[in-house]
Amino acid sequence: MTTATLETKPMTAEQLILVETDGSVGIIKLNRPKVLNALNPELMTQLAEQLEAFDKDDSIYVIVLAGSERAFAAGADIGDMAECSSLEMYKRDQFATWDRIKRTKKPIVAAVSGYALGGGCELMMLCDVIIASDTSQIGQPEINIGVMPGAGGTQRLTRAVGKATAMDVILTGRFLNAAEALAGGLVSRVVPREHFYSEALRIAHEMARKGPIALRFAKESVLKAHETALSEGLEYERKLFYALFSTEDQKEGMRAFMEKRKPDFKGK
Ligand code: HXC
Repeated sequence: MTTATLETKPMTAEQLILVETDGSVGIIKLNRPKVLNALNPELMTQLAEQLEAFDKDDSIYVIVLAGSERAFAAGADIGDMAECSSLEMYKRDQFATWDRIKRTKKPIVAAVSGYALGGGCELMMLCDVIIASDTSQIGQPEINIGVMPGAGGTQRLTRAVGKATAMDVILTGRFLNAAEALAGGLVSRVVPREHFYSEALRIAHEMARKGPIALRFAKESVLKAHETALSEGLEYERKLFYALFSTEDQKEGMRAFMEKRKPDFKGK
């Protein structure tokens, strides 16, 4: 006689990100503290899914992406890929998840402290406004482990800080401190360590009081500057600028200014 086995409940997926909302700000915290928020494929998938969910949620205007005080993220999970062949890495197509993250329409404020290295730096650069603590150490140290940046580091870092600094960081693996990152235009603002998260949240709320369509279009247009020739980018900017004049928020924003009152944006 066969004994029926008790059906085991599937284990709930590990919470590699923590999600909350604060008014119209959606907050995602990376949550692999033991490995300094190393980015494994599962974490990246959860992150992409949550960003897409916030993008679809009309009550959310701005997103905060935060690491811990010790590490925003110390890179892609080295253990996860150490034994992979080139073909295995190719078949995994992990950058498809990165492409999903890149397509987030709402502005993302990064709250960065401690290490933002390798894929961590690349993830930070996918964010829009970067608030860094004065303890931040930012770099692309892949060269130390026999590889090179793979999620946009050679392109986005170079566009942010210029060729000389990018070569220095990528070829020697050295970390930029917060002051260097700010001077190079890699981060938006540097704040004392104890305030990096509260400041990011405060700035996200400040942005969330603006017209949400204008926020999205403005983000889209700034990103164009990274990816196109100037003439094409200017044309794109002009189209989005005209398009905003078909929104109620534009009328409300300009009328409120004329009437010397605060605008009441509706995202319409
Ligand atoms: C897996 C990692 C990790 C990583 C740290 N850990 N970074 N695990 N992948 N990227 C783990 C350590 O193994 C250790 O686990 C724990 O986190 C704490 O780290 P320590 O090294 O003990 O801390 P510390 O001495 O303070 O050094 C911090 C550090 C160092 C300088 C950040 O951990 C480090 O150099 N990490 C690797 C950084 C890196 O090379 N990043 C690029 C990865 S490649 P245990 O179990 O020992 O406690 C990449 C390619 C991206 O990002 C391509 C796109 C996907």
